[in-house]
Amino acid sequence: MNILITGGAGFIGSHVVRQFVHKYPEHTIINLDLLTYAGNLENINDVKDAFNYAFEKADIRDLEAMRSIFKKHKVDRVIHLAAESHVDRSITDPLVFVTTNVIGTGTLLQVAKEAWKDDFEGKLFYHVSTDEVYGSLGDTGFFYEDTPYDPRSPYSASKASSDHLVRAFGHTYGMPIVISNCSNNYGPYQFPEKLLPLFINNIIHNKPLPVYGKGINVRDWLYVEDHAAAIDTIFHNGKQGETYNIGGHNEWRNIDLIHLLIKQTDEKLGRAEGTSKELITYVTDRAGHDMRYAIDATKIKDELGWVPSLQFEEGLSKTIDWYLENKEWLENVTSGEYRKYYAKHYEVKL
Ligand code: NAD
Ligand code: TYD
Repeated sequence: MNILITGGAGFIGSHVVRQFVHKYPEHTIINLDLLTYAGNLENINDVKDAFNYAFEKADIRDLEAMRSIFKKHKVDRVIHLAAESHVDRSITDPLVFVTTNVIGTGTLLQVAKEAWKDDFEGKLFYHVSTDEVYGSLGDTGFFYEDTPYDPRSPYSASKASSDHLVRAFGHTYGMPIVISNCSNNYGPYQFPEKLLPLFINNIIHNKPLPVYGKGINVRDWLYVEDHAAAIDTIFHNGKQGETYNIGGHNEWRNIDLIHLLIKQTDEKLGRAEGTSKELITYVTDRAGHDMRYAIDATKIKDELGWVPSLQFEEGLSKTIDWYLENKEWLENVTSGEYRKYYAKHYEVKL
C-alpha cells in the first residue's frame, strides 16, 4: 500500500510516521507537510533515509498540488493529521484554522475521491481529530462517540467542521472513512507552545510558569506513542464509517499536573524539592477556556483491544528526560519566530 500521512513533521504525525515506517516495510509511507512553524523535519530525521519513506512539502489547501501528489504516489490510503492545532493561536488568528482545517480537509477529500474514481475497494480516508469537538464537561461525565458536538473555540469548531466533511464524504459518496477523537497528548517532539513542553522549557530556564485562571481546568492526558499505537490499530482493524474515542482515563487539574511536573523536573535537575514552585504565576484566563475534557475509551478497548501502555508518572518522567536530553532541539524550535509569539502572547499576561 501507498499510505499518505499528512502533518508527519508535526508532533503526533512524526510518531505515526516513525511507527509505520519501521513496522510496515511492505508499505510506502509518504509524509506530506507544509512545514509551518509547527512542522519540523528534525522530528523525523531518523527515518529520512528509509527505503519505504518519501517526503513532500506541500499545502493541503492547494488542490493542484494535492492532485499531483496523489497521482505521483498512487495513494491508496490517507491518515490525515495536518492541521493548525493550538487553541491560543486560534483565538488570535482564527481564519488560518478555517482555511487549513476546513478547506484543507475538504480539498484532500475531494482529491481522494477524484483519484480513487469512486472505486473505493481497498481505500481508506482516516481522519485524526480531537475530543475538543464535544465541548466542555462539568465535574462529572465523559465524552462518548455519540456525544453531540459542541465546539467552543475556533480550533475545535474548525476540527468539528472537518469531522463533518469527512462523514459527509462517507455518507454521500460511499468513501471508506474512519475518524478518531483523542484527548490531550504529551511526549517528545511537542512544540513548546502547549502546556507541558512550554513549562518544562521555562523550568529549565527559570522563567515564570503562566497558569491560566485558577489552574483548575481538567485535561485527560495520553502519551503520544500510545495515541500512535491506537491510530495503527484503528487503521488496520477499525470498522469503516465508525468513530473511536481515544483517551488515557487520566484526568488532571492543571495545577496538580504542574506540581507533579515541577517535582519530577526539579529532581532531575538536581534542584531542592519544590524550588521551581516559585515560578508559578497565575495569569489572565484564556478566553472561553473549556473547563474539563474526559474521554470514555470503552469502545476502542472492547472492540479493538487497544489500551494505553504507560502509567502517567512513567510517561511524564520519560517526557521530561527527553526534553532534558534534547536541549538542542528545544533551542532550535524556540529561537526566531517562537520568541515573537511568546513575547506577544505572554507579555500582556506576565
Ligand atoms: P502539530 O501542530 O504539532 O502538527 C501539525 C502539522 O501539520 C505540522 O507539521 C504542520 O507543518 C502541518 N500543517 C499545518 N498546516 C498545513 C497545511 N496547510 N498543509 C500541510 N501541512 C500542514 O499538531 P499535533 O499536535 O501533532 O496534532 C496533529 C493532529 O492531531 C491534528 O489534526 C490535531 O487536531 C489532532 N489532535 C491533537 C491532539 C494533541 O493533544 N496535540 C489531541 C487530539 C487530536
Ligand atoms: P494546551 O496544552 O494548550 O492544550 P488544550 O488547550 O488543547 O487542552 O493547554 C492545556 C491546559 O493548560 C489548558 O487548560 C490551558 C492550560 N495552559 C496554561 O494554564 N498555561 C499555558 O501557558 C498554556 C499553554 C496552557
